[in-house]
Amino acid sequence: MLEDRFKLETESLKKSWMRYDQDTLRNYLVQDVEDPRMNVQSILTRHFLIRQLFGERFDVLMEQELRFGLVMNWLLDLQKKLVRANQLHAVLGALLAGENEAEGLEIPPYIRETFASLFLPNYMCDLLSWAPVETTDVPIPEYLMSTFQVIWREVLAGEQSQRISVLEPACGSANDYRFIEASGIARLINYTGFDLCEKNIRNAKQMYPDACFKVGNVFEIEDGDGAFDYCFVHDLFEHLSIEAMEAAIAEICRVTRRGICAGFFNMYDGERHIVRKAGSYHWNNLSMVETREIFKRYASSVQVIHIDIFLRSNFRYGDTHNKGAYTLIVSK
Ligand SMILES: C[S@@+](CC[C@H](N)C(=O)[O-])C[C@H]1O[C@@H](n2cnc3c(N)ncnc32)[C@H](O)[C@@H]1O
Repeated sequence: MLEDRFKLETESLKKSWMRYDQDTLRNYLVQDVEDPRMNVQSILTRHFLIRQLFGERFDVLMEQELRFGLVMNWLLDLQKKLVRANQLHAVLGALLAGENEAEGLEIPPYIRETFASLFLPNYMCDLLSWAPVETTDVPIPEYLMSTFQVIWREVLAGEQSQRISVLEPACGSANDYRFIEASGIARLINYTGFDLCEKNIRNAKQMYPDACFKVGNVFEIEDGDGAFDYCFVHDLFEHLSIEAMEAAIAEICRVTRRGICAGFFNMYDGERHIVRKAGSYHWNNLSMVETREIFKRYASSVQVIHIDIFLRSNFRYGDTHNKGAYTLIVSK
């Protein structure tokens, strides 16, 4: 039974997401830097699942997929700055010649290192030469966006593994599931997604009639204790009151037996949550320290990944669009 203290908040949250039309909900969180094919947190979530299935076997491919995400983010940013097609062609020429600069455009180290780590020809050659005309103000072709979905699908096609059960609260319109499916991971897991917003679930069911999507509330998950092996969740907790967030984390930890991958979009390395109301929901700036402590009540360890620091130290990537992005890997 939903506790009385969360009834009002549940109604406000429902209203907040139900005011969008169904088409907007289907698309708005899988575009631009949020596209799960190039969004580092979504990539890390898929890697979290692959690691549970296969251990460290695919670590090399995972590193390459993260690099792909960075290349795509860099290209998207250049497009926004109205880079010209011939500049991109010059970048390709410079990369082939081992140079750091092309037509006044500095080529960042992570781009050079990624290019150097690939055989020729490769997806970067295609990315830098696909734009057929003067302008690059056209979408990057789908086959290039989906480079790693195709690779994963092929690599995983022959694999068998013990199926794991995975829960995704606040799944939206199958925003991440679409790429979990396209990467060939979905057939290896028993997935359940739920969301408070009915329109999202309608979208998800239309796209994936055979997958398990349902309307549900993270404040009272209908499944029993330890019903799922793993859970992942993105961009939910900042929108809840602190009291509700604590209850949501308790619920998620109650139903998950082994591990959780939780993505945050507005967190900081501070001692106290900063509460901000935004209309009928919240847009809090969460304290990493306090949030980690909440998870620790139910977990044996919590690994904190600050995306900006992670990318700087592993890839010399200093262009993260969101310094407030954190992923927490929680082991029960
Ligand atoms: C910012 S969206 C994130 C959606 C998706 N996880 C993603 O990253 O693309 C937040 C989602 O949380 C859902 N939501 C909000 N409160 C919820 C609750 N109490 N229980 C379940 N889902 C909720 C909303 O309907 C919305 O789909």
